[in-house]
Amino acid sequence: MPGFDPTEYKISSRANWNTVAPDYHYNWANEHVGPFKSTIEAVRLAEISPSDKVLDIACGTGVVSKEISRRLDETGLLVGVDLSRTALTIAKQSVNKDNTNFFEMDAENMAFRFTFDKILCQYGIMFFPNVRKVLETARKILSIRGKIVLVVHGTAEDVPYFSAIMKPILKYIPDIRPSGAPNVHRFGNPADLEKELESAGFANISASRRVFSYEAGSFEEYWQDYMHSTANSIRPKIENAGSDIMSSIKNESKENVSPYLKDDKITFPWTIFIVSAS
Ligand SMILES: C[S@@+](CC[C@H](N)C(=O)[O-])C[C@H]1O[C@@H](n2cnc3c(N)ncnc32)[C@H](O)[C@@H]1O
Repeated sequence: MPGFDPTEYKISSRANWNTVAPDYHYNWANEHVGPFKSTIEAVRLAEISPSDKVLDIACGTGVVSKEISRRLDETGLLVGVDLSRTALTIAKQSVNKDNTNFFEMDAENMAFRFTFDKILCQYGIMFFPNVRKVLETARKILSIRGKIVLVVHGTAEDVPYFSAIMKPILKYIPDIRPSGAPNVHRFGNPADLEKELESAGFANISASRRVFSYEAGSFEEYWQDYMHSTANSIRPKIENAGSDIMSSIKNESKENVSPYLKDDKITFPWTIFIVSAS
């Protein structure tokens, strides 16, 4: 199995987010569907004051930034950072204010000369190869009375939208991703994230679990959407594996989805965790 190269991973991750960002924004994040019901809750938990300086790490297309922006006045400051230029272009269109800046920046190499009152990162932390480095930097640039709020997905069992198709993919093409590459369920057990926060020097750590639901349509709609969004970066490898393997993956995915199917429509439960610390 090929080894994991963090630089290669970030280059391909950026290319992938540049491709999927519009679909991600308009069909998911901006619609507050499924896991994105967390956006308002996470921002509420950050207890943002109008004059706060706020950092949105891996801000993507800016849905969290938009909620933060609503709570700031002209004395506040909002900074969003992300790897994907396409995502940032959408973010800039949705939050177009003088007190807001979006930067193309790797979360593992953030450089700021001032501190923030609040730092948020929704569905981003699991993608950073060196989470420790990001959290240590976050602690250094968070003011003494500051607060950090992170949002992550649950385990594979608790987020069947991801695992119903990914499980058979991994069964038939086990080397589809380099061993050691980050995956969406990395902090599905929030105790692992709490440990990382503690090691980075944070205190008052608390995690709350939410179970949302996501209407994925018919199996065929779910399959198509998944292949062109979640599995976009690995789709060429799946297609190259041949039609027999593709059929087996599809058939097993269908079986995995059956508990969530009613009248030909899928409703997935979707567990997320909102973790805060100061
Ligand atoms: C699932 S999206 C989340 C976007 C946004 N926070 C939201 O809630 O909609 C993950 C984002 O992480 C960004 N990302 C991944 N690795 C990154 C890194 N090393 N530094 C900065 N951004 C990164 C991607 O470009 C993508 O926009």
